[in-house]
Amino acid sequence: QELNLKLEMLEKGGYDHFMLKEIYEQPRSVRDCLRGRIYPNEGRVQLGGISEFAHKLKNVDRIIIVACGTSWHAGLVGEYLIEEYSRIPVEVEYASEFRYRNPIITEKDVVIAISQSGETADTMAAIEMAKEKGATIFGVCNVVGASIPRLTHAGAYTHAGPEIGVASTKAFTAQVTVLTLIAFHLAQQKGTLTSSKLTELLTELDNIPQKIEKALQSEGLIKEISAKFKDSRNCLFLGRGSGFPVALEGALKLKEISYIHAEGYPAAEMKHGPIALIDEEMPVVVIATKNSSYEKVISNIQEVKARKGIVLAIVTEGDTEVRKMADYCIEIPDASEAFLPLLATIPLQLLSYHIAVMRGCNVDQPRNLAKSVTVE
Ligand code: AGP
Repeated sequence: QELNLKLEMLEKGGYDHFMLKEIYEQPRSVRDCLRGRIYPNEGRVQLGGISEFAHKLKNVDRIIIVACGTSWHAGLVGEYLIEEYSRIPVEVEYASEFRYRNPIITEKDVVIAISQSGETADTMAAIEMAKEKGATIFGVCNVVGASIPRLTHAGAYTHAGPEIGVASTKAFTAQVTVLTLIAFHLAQQKGTLTSSKLTELLTELDNIPQKIEKALQSEGLIKEISAKFKDSRNCLFLGRGSGFPVALEGALKLKEISYIHAEGYPAAEMKHGPIALIDEEMPVVVIATKNSSYEKVISNIQEVKARKGIVLAIVTEGDTEVRKMADYCIEIPDASEAFLPLLATIPLQLLSYHIAVMRGCNVDQPRNLAKSVTVE
């Protein structure tokens, strides 16, 4: 019994749970995901799986991203990045909806299928249907040789290493990293990014693992804040732009491991109904980092405070503006908007982890959940 316990602790690298170990592995897993794929000085992205289909991608009319759960949230970040940098239209679809909707797909379409496990039944069925209709399928997967990589025409592995915790953490940031590389690669091909701008972005991306390291240093403060939120019955996560998929992902993490009902919402959508939910019992987590929608997010925070909501804001380090109005602030390092999802997600992973532990939940194997949903 004692030996088993010791073995298990060894497996978890000394962490109490696989999920915490995997949260702390992210500087390394993002570094592994980037290795051999970016050449900042040359302003070049080298993405093996993509170059075989360079011709297809160069003239593609539309990219359709299909995925489930956290991988679908990564797809939403991918949509913002690919459209922003390559100007190619992107649609993000829940694989489970897409497979039954009889969508319009032609051989000019490229489908990007995102799956950590590479075994998700809905995503596999969506791939098979799109293939039958002539689309080119590109996979973003974490498990080498899984079913989905064998179904796709090409792909890129996320190289995050085995993810044991049912709640996905390092696989998400690795998926977002690959989607960032795809966006930059497409922009490089289409010439929508100058090589000097690409050099600037790739140099910054090369330093993101260090910034993730820095974001992890807020764990102590996050643990204190978790104690204040652990008995909440509901929680709202708000964000704008690429902060919106981060809000969705933060809400899913909290739901699936602490069983607190949480919802991610575009911050501006609150006034179209959900703001009726706000009262002193409703914690609201806001992604309020310095980006193009910063001023608007500040007014959203003021709307929540005017209704006695409790606000936990994820802010850019050194922020003084939001600090004046939010009840709690967690800082992340400053970064270009393109990389904010990689950083803003870290405190939300730690927040849901600590709240779940304080509630005595089974963090690595939450009730009713499986690591890979291989059935419909
Ligand atoms: C995420 O924390 C969940 N475990 C779940 O939503 C997961 O992302 C979803 O089932 C998709 O799994 P996949 O990436 O392996 O396809």
